[in-house]
Amino acid sequence: MGDGIRVAAPCKINLHLGVFDRRSDGYHPIESIFQMLDFGDVLWIDSLKKRSGIEVHVEGPVPMGSFVPPEQNIVYKAVRLFQMERGDERGWHVRLEKAIPLGAGLGGGSADAAAVLLALNQVAGKPFSDADLEHLSARLGSDVPFFIKGGTAYVTGRGEQISTVSAETPWAVLLVNPGLHSSTPEAFALLDTVRSDTQNSAKPPLGKERLVQILQSHPKNWTFYNDFLEVFLQRGSPEVQRTYQAILSELKDLGAEFVNLSGSGSTCFGVFSDLARAKKALEVLKTHWSFVELCFPLARRPNTVVE
Ligand code: C5P
Repeated sequence: MGDGIRVAAPCKINLHLGVFDRRSDGYHPIESIFQMLDFGDVLWIDSLKKRSGIEVHVEGPVPMGSFVPPEQNIVYKAVRLFQMERGDERGWHVRLEKAIPLGAGLGGGSADAAAVLLALNQVAGKPFSDADLEHLSARLGSDVPFFIKGGTAYVTGRGEQISTVSAETPWAVLLVNPGLHSSTPEAFALLDTVRSDTQNSAKPPLGKERLVQILQSHPKNWTFYNDFLEVFLQRGSPEVQRTYQAILSELKDLGAEFVNLSGSGSTCFGVFSDLARAKKALEVLKTHWSFVELCFPLARRPNTVVE
């Protein structure tokens, strides 16, 4: 057995996403239900033997042109953070097979960063607990701590406060991404502008108990919402408004019992309790949109595999 390790980096959707007024540090408090799905990236991590340094090699269906310089890549930053925290300059090679679309509200970069921390921690003999990793990972981005644990979670703070939810999730999810890149900071800024122009304040938080109660009801009765969706439908570019409206109504017409936008976009999703219907919808939607994926909720994140 070598010291190579393969680690899955599954994506998430936000079943619900409430955004509150901007804090003095520039972040917005949120209240969300995150759900990990069985679709995502895969990373292979190997030590560079006696060399130091960090090499990140990306491949897969997501175009290479859309990647930032290596040292700004969140995978690179995650390796660097682990090296610094461990005080161990051993070098690492990461091969990332990228399947999660970028700027898509599916937490692709955050999933990869968490996967790196989990894998390196495992190779190092688990010097950090999962709680340590959650804490550490928040430095890489607000969404990263969720991916350390995965499953279903009630998420607050700027996204880094995770409270696991144990709930039955007997439904399938159809992800539909139109190929638009949605910038998270720009989406938050648009939300601020719309709220200040309309003098509308944020809706009050619903609380974990209420959100879990909704989650446990049938998806056709879900009253979850995403504050970004409302903003995009009112004040997004004409292309964004048209596109989200088209996907969401198509999903509904094809039998989705609940539809929403994930994160700050651009992936829309439909929840189906009838798998046969979801499969039929998949076939139809594939002919219209660039990325369509049928997936299922994961109750916890998959283990890392040493090869
Ligand atoms: O934490 P992360 O680096 O992913 O956040 C990127 C940007 O998104 C932040 O700089 C901020 O502008 C915005 N953001 C926010 N409120 C959050 C999370 C992110 O305003 N809860």
